[in-house]
Amino acid sequence: MKLRVALLPGDGIGPEVISQAIAVLEAVCGKFSHDLEVSSGLLGAAAIRATGDPLPAETLTLAKTAGAVLMGAVGHPEFDSLPPEKKPEKGLLRLRKELHVYANLRPAICFPTLENFSPLRSDIVQGSDLIIVRELTGGIYYGVPRGIERDSGEPSAVNTMTYSRSEIERLARVGFGLARGRSKRVVSVDKANVLENSQLWRETVSQLAAREFPDIQLEHMLVDSCAMQLVLNPRRFDVLITENLFGDILSDEAAVLAGSIGMLPSASLGEHTGLYEPVHGSAPDIANQGIANPLGAILSAAMLLRHSFGLEAEARAVEQAVRKTIDSGLRPRDLKGSASTSAVGQAVIQHL
Ligand code: NAD
Ligand code: IPM
Ligand code: MN
Repeated sequence: MKLRVALLPGDGIGPEVISQAIAVLEAVCGKFSHDLEVSSGLLGAAAIRATGDPLPAETLTLAKTAGAVLMGAVGHPEFDSLPPEKKPEKGLLRLRKELHVYANLRPAICFPTLENFSPLRSDIVQGSDLIIVRELTGGIYYGVPRGIERDSGEPSAVNTMTYSRSEIERLARVGFGLARGRSKRVVSVDKANVLENSQLWRETVSQLAAREFPDIQLEHMLVDSCAMQLVLNPRRFDVLITENLFGDILSDEAAVLAGSIGMLPSASLGEHTGLYEPVHGSAPDIANQGIANPLGAILSAAMLLRHSFGLEAEARAVEQAVRKTIDSGLRPRDLKGSASTSAVGQAVIQHL
């Protein structure tokens, strides 16, 4: 099979982890006799410096015409004081919107050999294996009106959380569909005791479940309570569905179950090209030191093989190789080891 992959390394540790992910992709494609064609583009701070735009037209065309997009991370402290419109992160938000990738799958698994690497007690995290299905192209990230008003008197700021019924339905359908292949349990997370937006969310999810997914056990949970349950009793969760901002926050929290945020991959899916990125950011505090954990990026490449190209055996081969690497005791710094980014990537390739 021919795999055309657009590579957007981005900023900070993005290029460091992506170079390992692409090396693993090349190795697995070699092993299974696939033809991998990679083309790189600029996104984020790197793109602002080169073109003035965090998502140059050329990058958008590259992404839209590829079979799948593999991204590192964006963001740089140099641009922290700029308005949101001009920040590197805006390039990523526009890319997600342009690719219509409304469903962001964020699995968080506690590997058995990493049970003792979480700051949480091992008896709490052991066996946890959940997936957050985060709405990615709507909600408060994109709602209008938005902005800061400074012209009359005291400054004030507004952001707007908007969801239509169809946006909620299409996201929930992805979560329920996933649950059918897992334990058939879905927790829908909202703040329906306060937000009208969440009331519509809850009503829509309930009606969809009754209509199309009577075999799925649905539970509604308030987001504050969910945040606590995630660290008290993570095994009670399997599939979680939630809106954009709640999903962003809860997925970083869920990273604690896996031992480090460097372990978490993600897949952003819609009707067309899929976008794959680790959950972590550009980690400016450890950039350019060769110590970042590349496994979240490598596991994102596995998700790319599965979801964009239907290559299940190849995806599993990568996931197994990651497990074997972890089991071998070779660990990067965030997991209390001393292996470099490239040593971890090479070990995964050796275990393929
Ligand atoms: P971060 O995820 O970059 O870092 C949080 C902490 O986790 C840091 O201590 C970092 O060193 C550590 N960490 C993250 N990834 C790691 C890895 N692979 N290996 C080892 N340690 C790792 O979050 P932040 O510091 O809040 O944000 C930094 C920048 O990244 C900001 O500009 C933010 O907007 C951006 N960001 C981008 C994305 C993305 O592109 N998808 C995601 C989150 C944050
Ligand atoms: C993430 C990040 C992004 C988000 C930022 C960088 C825009 O935190 O992918 O989790 O909030 O979606
Ligand atoms: Mn985030």
